[in-house]
Amino acid sequence: MVATMQKKDIIEAPFLKEMCEATFNMWNMGWDERNGGNISYLLDEEVVEQYLDVKQIIRSISLKFPVSELAGKYFIVTGSGKYFKNVKEDPSNTLGILKVDESGEKVHLLWGFEDGSNPTSELPSHFMSHIVRLRVDPNHRIIMHNHATNILAMTFIHDLDEASFTKTLWQMCTECIVVFPDAIGILPWMVPGTDAIGEKTAEKMLEHRLVVWPHHGIFGAGSTMDETFGLIETAEKAAQIYTIIGDASKIKQTITDQQLKDLADAFQVVPREGILSV
Ligand code: 13P
Ligand code: ZN
Repeated sequence: MVATMQKKDIIEAPFLKEMCEATFNMWNMGWDERNGGNISYLLDEEVVEQYLDVKQIIRSISLKFPVSELAGKYFIVTGSGKYFKNVKEDPSNTLGILKVDESGEKVHLLWGFEDGSNPTSELPSHFMSHIVRLRVDPNHRIIMHNHATNILAMTFIHDLDEASFTKTLWQMCTECIVVFPDAIGILPWMVPGTDAIGEKTAEKMLEHRLVVWPHHGIFGAGSTMDETFGLIETAEKAAQIYTIIGDASKIKQTITDQQLKDLADAFQVVPREGILSV
């Protein structure tokens, strides 16, 4: 007789706690008003199996955008319309664990969304970005979207050229070029929640881990929750310095291109080409 393995309590799962902490911290930063923002986190089957019978499907949700590259993969994602402020008190209604089915045309809900809610409306951008990031980074796990206040403000007063936007951020805090040498990708303004913005976001994710949606927010990618949060936090801090200065003509001195290059050399990162003039 084969003994059935006792499943652990999902509420104690480290990945679930990470989702609860990240959503609360993001709300606390002021980046996720109301239902703003969404997170998706790629999970290993062996980990999910410790908590759930992965054959027990609660319901299946069709995708308008097939993602065969993600077939068989597991994600924990935030729900559409859910307030990040509330996730940690109410994870089973605000979060869901999904398995992408073998065709890549639907996802199976294995846990969560108990009130009948659905995954984030930005699932196209999340899934398409996961596909691209997994191609370039085997350790990739997280896609995070929020309405980071100062980045958003900066998209009104700074030109939206990727190189010049990135260079301004690099100049605002010494650590920036070290944290995101791959620079910021920027889309034109687009309607959110669509496959089209998903495709364009993913295209940028091939070369950048940060993608700005003008007058809306930012997408970040990373291998851990801390790293992804920290990436957005660093860009947002630099944008905050820029908005505090308020008027670029007031700037009396800044970090020079040579100093940015010296920093990159010292920390052994390669700044994206075409931004520094040294
Ligand atoms: P969801 O509530 O569907 O995740 O949407 C929030 C958001 O930020 C849309 O861009
Ligand atoms: Zn948004």
